[in-house]
Amino acid sequence: RPSSRLVVISNRVAVPKARGAAGAQGGLAGALNAALRDRGGLWFGWSGQESEDRTGNINVQRGGGVTTATIDLSTRDVDEYYNGYANSTLWPLFHYRIDLAEFENETGRGYERVNERFAESVMPLIEEDDLVWVHDYHLIPIGDRLRELGAKNRIGFFLHTPWPPTRLLTSLPFHERLVRTMLSYNLIGFQTEEWLSSFVHYCETELGAEVEKESGRITHEGRTTTARAYPIGIDWDHFQEQGDSGEARQATQRLLSSTRHRTGMIGVDRLDYSKGLPERIDGIGRFFDQHPERVRDLVFIQIAPPSREDVESYQKIRAELEQKTGQINGARSEVDLVPIRYVNQGYSHAELYGFFRGAKIGLVTPLRDGMNLVAKEYVAAQDPNDPGVLILSDFAGAAHQLGCGGNGALLVNPHSPDALARAIETALDMPLGERKSRYEAMIETVRDDNVQAWTKTFCSDLATG
Ligand code: G6P
Repeated sequence: RPSSRLVVISNRVAVPKARGAAGAQGGLAGALNAALRDRGGLWFGWSGQESEDRTGNINVQRGGGVTTATIDLSTRDVDEYYNGYANSTLWPLFHYRIDLAEFENETGRGYERVNERFAESVMPLIEEDDLVWVHDYHLIPIGDRLRELGAKNRIGFFLHTPWPPTRLLTSLPFHERLVRTMLSYNLIGFQTEEWLSSFVHYCETELGAEVEKESGRITHEGRTTTARAYPIGIDWDHFQEQGDSGEARQATQRLLSSTRHRTGMIGVDRLDYSKGLPERIDGIGRFFDQHPERVRDLVFIQIAPPSREDVESYQKIRAELEQKTGQINGARSEVDLVPIRYVNQGYSHAELYGFFRGAKIGLVTPLRDGMNLVAKEYVAAQDPNDPGVLILSDFAGAAHQLGCGGNGALLVNPHSPDALARAIETALDMPLGERKSRYEAMIETVRDDNVQAWTKTFCSDLATG
């Protein structure tokens, strides 16, 4: 049924014309924007606004082929569902940070309540033949709630984050209750085989489900779902178009004229503890300690728009990052030289393209990441005749595609300052021939396994079962 309408449900919705700070919104909003722009359809989620309005008002906006429908949440809902269960329990747990996870039943109830509210609000907008596609950890139980309300549609779910190992997940009170709701989906997608196999392991060992490995079919208590890996990609065509703009060229010039004869190294991440930012700064500090004579060779630009600022662990990571950055800059700066530029604002896609192209090293070193599209965008923005080097964490989903058997990105252990320092040195000294061959190994998957291909494959699997 290729003609069926697509209904996307996610917590974060990129409302049309709200000028996007690309680095700040994360991969999900950008990817879904592209998916819907090409296919048309309805995008439902939270407006990002708080209000005590209980009338169930839905704000509908049309732009291009996409209709967005959003609802406000009350302050209590935002606290318990978004800041609480989604971002203080599931997010840290799914990124293997059980030390940061809070386990409060009250926020769990808020999470269920908001999922129910979302389901009730979106249900009247869903038509018989629609394909419904739910995204991310905020809304795991919504498919099950929609079934309870009578939805007979094909409903799929995609997780943009990692899925944790079973022994970590079982530290979550009521973990079974949460995972069981997933059996209401017809299709469940993960970023990599690694997260998929953790999920399958959980279903087998904790639920006692039957699993058909080949097809990904999982059967439990009379319900069957299918789970597979669908690695997400970037919006290649759109990104290249942005790269052709004057805005992008100006951004490259701006970067180059400010770094002059020094090599620019860039990182672009939401300010999140999963991104390994303090560890990255430690690695750079280690490089300077080991090679004080090279402080003049390198300028590191970290673009880090603040994220989820009401959550305590995010306030802490920001303070830690600022302290470490300040320390290194204090120790290594001269009147005419500051080794680390730390920037809190977000930039447009065109500007990011321009910065990526001007920076000869891309540093993407999350401690754990579902995919990481910044890594792919960095590669996409390089000049094929003089490409930069991507240093990539072994713990990002993207490492599965961009490692290329040792000939693509320089894969590193982001926990090790020595490993980071060594990778920076290797990247700085890498000859053009090697840079080109590594770039060529990566570019095909970045170009071809793009967000359109991802949407098409997932939706066609969802539609045909
Ligand atoms: C990650 C999540 C997304 C989320 C994004 C930005 O990419 O997987 O679901 O939208 O971060 O975070 P925020 O909390 O601002 O939506």
